[in-house]
Amino acid sequence: MAVQPVRTPAASGPATGGTGGSTKAIRFAVAIASGKGGVGKSTFAVNLACAMSQVLSAQGRVGKVGLLDCDIYGPSVPLMIGAHGRPEVEGESLIPLEAHGVKVMSMGFLVDDNTPVVWRGPMIMKTIQQFVQNVKWGELDILLIDLPPGTGDAQLSLVQTLPLDGAVIVTTPQPAATQVARKGALMFQKVNVPLLGIAENMSWFLDPSGEKHALFGEGGGARTAESLGTVLLGQVPLVPEIRAGGDTGVPLVVSSAQNPASEVFRNIAETILHTLQKKTSTS
Ligand SMILES: Nc1ncnc2c1ncn2[C@@H]1O[C@H](COP(=O)(O)OP(=O)(O)O)[C@@H](O)[C@H]1O
Ligand SMILES: [Mg+2]
Repeated sequence: MAVQPVRTPAASGPATGGTGGSTKAIRFAVAIASGKGGVGKSTFAVNLACAMSQVLSAQGRVGKVGLLDCDIYGPSVPLMIGAHGRPEVEGESLIPLEAHGVKVMSMGFLVDDNTPVVWRGPMIMKTIQQFVQNVKWGELDILLIDLPPGTGDAQLSLVQTLPLDGAVIVTTPQPAATQVARKGALMFQKVNVPLLGIAENMSWFLDPSGEKHALFGEGGGARTAESLGTVLLGQVPLVPEIRAGGDTGVPLVVSSAQNPASEVFRNIAETILHTLQKKTSTS
C-alpha cells in the first residue's frame, strides 16, 4: 500500500513541534499521553475532543476536531465515543467515522473485537506508521492522539512519525502514577515536543453529602507540573457518570454539559486551544 502522509515532516517541519503555516490541513496535532495505563487517558481524550468541538462550534467552527486512537493493544475510543463500523476506503486512504462532532479513527475499527492482535517487534511500528499516515482527515483545527500507555519504542517512534505541536500528560494524583507520568513527559521533552501541561484525573470523589474524598492522595498533579516546569491544566474529579459515559458511548461533556466535571474539560479545552493559537501568532 502506498504511503500518503497527511503531514510529511518535509511539509510541516520536523517532528520536533511543527507550527505555523496557514496552508496546513491539520492546524495542530496534540498527543495525549500518560506513562501509566488505567489513569483515564482515553476517557480524558474523548471528553476533551468533544469539549473542543463544543468550544469551536461556539466560535462558529463545526466538525474541526479529530481523534486518533493509537492504542493498538486496547483501543477503547470507539466504545467510549460511540463510533462503530468500518471506515470507508478512498484510494489508499481511510475515511474517519464521526461522533458527537468529532472525526474518529481507531485501530479498533479495523480489527475484530474478539481477536486479540499479537504484535511483534518491527511489525508494530510499520503498521502504526502506515495506519496513522493514511487517514484522510480533511481540514482540522486540531487532532488529538490517544497514545498507548508506556514510554517504549512504539511511543517514541509514533511521536517521531507525527509532527506534534504539543503533548498533554494525564495522571492520577498518587506517586505510583506521577512518577511514570514524569517519564512520559521527559520523553516528549527529549524529542522537543512542547509540554502543554498536566491534567490530573480522579482528583477526588464527592460523596452524596457533598464531602470531598481524595482517594488517590492530593497535589500529585500540581507537584508533577511544577517539577517539569509546566502548568496544571485542571483537575477532573472521579464521577460515576464519567465511567458510565465511557461505557455507553456518550461522553459526560455531551450528556451533561452542566456537570462541574464537564466544565473542567471545557476549561482545559479552551486553555489548550488558546495556548496553541497564541504560539502560532507569536512564532
Ligand atoms: N474521572 C473519572 N471518573 C470516573 N471514572 C473514570 C474517570 N476517568 C476514567 N474513568 C474510568 O476508569 C477506567 C479507565 O479509564 P481509561 O480512560 O480506559 O484509562 P487509560 O486510557 O488511561 O488506560 C474506565 O472504565 C473509565 O470509565
Ligand atoms: Mg486507554
